[in-house]
Amino acid sequence: MCGIIAYTGRQESYPILLQGLQRLEYRGYDSAGIALLDGQLKVYKKAGKVSDLENFVASKQLTGRIGIGHTRWATHGAPNDANAHPQVAYSGKLALVHNGIIENYSTLKQDLLNKGYVFKSETDTEVLAHFIEEVQQQNQCTLEEAVRLALTKVVGAYALVILSEDLPNTLIAARKGSPMVIGIGHDEFFVASDTAPIVAYTDQVVFISDHEMAVIQDNQLSMKSLEDVPLTPAIQKLDMALETIEKGSFTHFMLKEIFEQPKAIRDCMRGRLEVDSPNLVLGGIRSHIDKLARAHKITIVACGTSWHAGLVAEYFLEEFCRIPVEVEYASEFRYRKPVIGAGDFVLAISQSGETADTLAAVELAKAQGATILGICNVVESSIARAAHAGIYTHAGPEVGVASTKAFTTQLTVLFMVALKLAQHRGTVDATTFYKLLQHLATIPEAVETVLQQHDHVKQIAQAFQDAPNCLYLGRGYNFPVALEGALKLKELSYIHAEGYPAAEMKHGPIALIDEAMPVVFTATQDRSYGKIISNIEEVKARRGRVIVIVTEGDKVASKLADYVIEVPPMHEALMPMIAVIPLQLLAYHMAVIRGCDVDRPRNLAKSVTVE
Ligand code: G6P
Repeated sequence: MCGIIAYTGRQESYPILLQGLQRLEYRGYDSAGIALLDGQLKVYKKAGKVSDLENFVASKQLTGRIGIGHTRWATHGAPNDANAHPQVAYSGKLALVHNGIIENYSTLKQDLLNKGYVFKSETDTEVLAHFIEEVQQQNQCTLEEAVRLALTKVVGAYALVILSEDLPNTLIAARKGSPMVIGIGHDEFFVASDTAPIVAYTDQVVFISDHEMAVIQDNQLSMKSLEDVPLTPAIQKLDMALETIEKGSFTHFMLKEIFEQPKAIRDCMRGRLEVDSPNLVLGGIRSHIDKLARAHKITIVACGTSWHAGLVAEYFLEEFCRIPVEVEYASEFRYRKPVIGAGDFVLAISQSGETADTLAAVELAKAQGATILGICNVVESSIARAAHAGIYTHAGPEVGVASTKAFTTQLTVLFMVALKLAQHRGTVDATTFYKLLQHLATIPEAVETVLQQHDHVKQIAQAFQDAPNCLYLGRGYNFPVALEGALKLKELSYIHAEGYPAAEMKHGPIALIDEAMPVVFTATQDRSYGKIISNIEEVKARRGRVIVIVTEGDKVASKLADYVIEVPPMHEALMPMIAVIPLQLLAYHMAVIRGCDVDRPRNLAKSVTVE
C-alpha cells in the first residue's frame, strides 16, 4: 500500500524513479510524485496514475542524481495534488515519502499548529515532515538524529525516505510495520517498498527491519536501530528474474499470471512432492511437524483471497487430519479475545506477507504462545519473518492486484501440509496418501486444459457484460470457490457479486433471482453433486440464467444450464484449484469488456499495509 522508490548514485535519478514507480504502481495508484535534488530541491506531484505524473513533468527540467518517488493509496486526505507525496517540510528544503499511518498525527499536528506551522495538505505525512524539522531545531542536532528522535515519538506504522537540500548526497530511510528494502549497486543505492524496482539494477539487497533506520551518505550505507545502536547491514542475494515482473506479450499482468499458474504450481511442488517414494519434503516446517501433529486445533488467519484459500484448507485439513480448524478474518481475530495459546498452531496465509491485519494477528497469537506457520509468497516479507516457520509458495511475483496464482499455489502448499500432517497422525492410509499425491501431481496439466477454454469463457463474458448483479454458488469444497469467483468479479468489473453456499440460497438470495440474474454454479462431480442439481433446478424454475462449471462428460447439470464450462476430472479436495480458473477468466474478460482497468481496479491495492 503506497510504493516508495529512492535513488542515489552516478546516474540521473528521474528515469530510475519513473520506472520504479511504474513497477510499484500495483501498491497504490491514486496519485504519484517525485522530488529531485540538483542543488535545489524540486518536487513534482500529481493526482492520478504514474502516467499522469509522467505527462505532467514531461516539459520540466528533471536533473539530479539523487531523488525520491512515491505512488499513493490514500489514507489521510483525498487523492489530490496537495496530498500526494513527497510532502515537504516547512523550510521547503526537506522532502519525505511515506507508506503507513501516523496514528498520533492529530496531536502532533495540533502542537505544530500552536507553534505557527502552516499545513498545505491533509496528510499525516506532512505532519511528520514538519515534526522532524521541529525536532531538529529544538535539539540543534543532525537531521539523522532528528529523524531518529522524531520517530521515537511517533505512534503508527511507516516506511519512509527523506531527502534534504542541506545534505545533498544523503538519503535517510526508516521502517516500522511497512516494508522497505535497499538495493546496493555499483556506486549507487536504491531504496524501495519491495524488490520490483530494484531487480533490474542489482541483486544485492538489505531488508530493513522494524525499528531500524538506514543512512546512505556519499555512497556509504550505515544502519542503526531507533535506540541508536549501530547495526551491520545483512546483505542478501536477490533471487528474482526481471522477466517475472514484466508483462511480456500479455495485455495485462492478471492474464499473464492466470496463464502462469501451471508453472507456478509446478515451481511450488518442485523438490517437495515425490510421488514415487511417495513422500512430501516440507523443509520449512520439518522441525514443527511432530508438534503440529499433536495440536489441539489449527487457526488460520488471512484476508481477501488468502482467506478463501484458508477456507478450502479447513475442509481438507479436517477431512484428512481430523484436527479442528478455524478460519478467521485476521482483522476480526486481532480485535477480539481469541482463545489461543501454547499447543495451538496458527497458519498465516498471505501472498505479500505484509498485510497489516494478518501481521497483527500473527503478533497477537505469538504473544499468546501459539506457534505460527507462515504461508507467504514474498520471500523475507514481514509475516514470513515473524512466523516461527513456514513454507513459501514460490509463485513468483504477483503484480495484478486481483490475486490468481497466489491462490492456487497457496492451495498447493496447504494441501501438502495437510497430507504431511495426515501421514504423521496416521489419519490417511498409505494407499490414500499415494493416490492423493498422484492427484496433486496432475494439477498443472489439468489447469493447462482449463486454460484452453479461454475463448469460450470470453464469449460467456460477452453475454453477461451488462449484468448488474451476479450470484456464485457452490457446495463443499466448491463453496470457497464461489466466494473467490464473486470476489474476482466485483473487484475487477465493479458488478455486484455474492458468493454463497448453494444450499443457503433458499434462505435469502433466491429472492433476487429473475431473468436478469446470472448465477454461476460450480457443480463438479463430488459428494454434493446430486444436491446442487436441485439448486440449479430451483434457479431455473425462477428464470435465472445459469452458467455451470462441470466435470468433463457431465450430462445432468449441463442440460439444465444456459452456458457450460467443462473442467477435467479431479479429486474433490483439489477441485478448487481447477474450478477457480474459469472464474478468474470470467472476471477478467467481464472487466476488459466493460473497459475496466484490470491491473489497477479502483480503490484497491495489492498490498494492504494499513488496517
Ligand atoms: C488485497 C489484495 C488481494 C489479497 C488481499 C490479502 O486486498 O487486493 O488480492 O487477497 O489483499 O493479501 P495478502 O497479501 O495478505 O494475501
